[in-house]
Amino acid sequence: MELYIDTANIDDIRQAAELGILDGVTTNPSLIAKEGVDFHNRMAEICEVVTGPVSAEVVSLEHDAMIAEANELLQIANNIVIKLPSTVEGLKACKTLSDRGVKVNMTLCFQPLQAMLVAKAGAFLVSPFIGRVDDTGADGMDLIQQIRTVYDNFGFQTKVLAASIRHPMHLVQCALVGADVVTVPYKVIKQMMHHPLTDKGLAAFLADWEKQKATV
Ligand code: G3P
Repeated sequence: MELYIDTANIDDIRQAAELGILDGVTTNPSLIAKEGVDFHNRMAEICEVVTGPVSAEVVSLEHDAMIAEANELLQIANNIVIKLPSTVEGLKACKTLSDRGVKVNMTLCFQPLQAMLVAKAGAFLVSPFIGRVDDTGADGMDLIQQIRTVYDNFGFQTKVLAASIRHPMHLVQCALVGADVVTVPYKVIKQMMHHPLTDKGLAAFLADWEKQKATV
């Protein structure tokens, strides 16, 4: 399972990259706005740190404007992936860009039919939002499972990128149902390597080691 970081915070991205296990980055307009920085400059900074796919989202709503925006974003670096909303206009733009060989990430996906159509349009990634489905009282993991099944049934190559990850159990479930990629806030990436029994066990090992040293 590939691991992307879901943030526009350059310090978090640098720290995650230093772990040596980071495969890519996703951003969205809300994450950029939170940083209060110039969008294009920040994307360029991110692409200097991470060589894997870096998703940059357009804010236009219509096909031609989306393509114009995408063309500008593609100038930033060769690992930019164009992120488009899972709308009718987004679907058309996905097809146009994919036919040109541009990698597209179709975001805000909330049902398997959206995922099927964007796969037919050649999307590189589809981003179903687990946490936001959970927030409505439904089970976001069902969406991942359904998309996985649809893609496997028909041999679609689009990667399932599980987004809106809120906690480590989401990641366990994504790995079990076969999400290709997860995009994760840095806070949750750090939680992935933490278990209280690891800390407790390590403290006991070191204490025993010190006691043993004192007897020889
Ligand atoms: O990048 C999109 C997605 O991961 C947003 O997550 O927590 O705002 O639902 P969240």
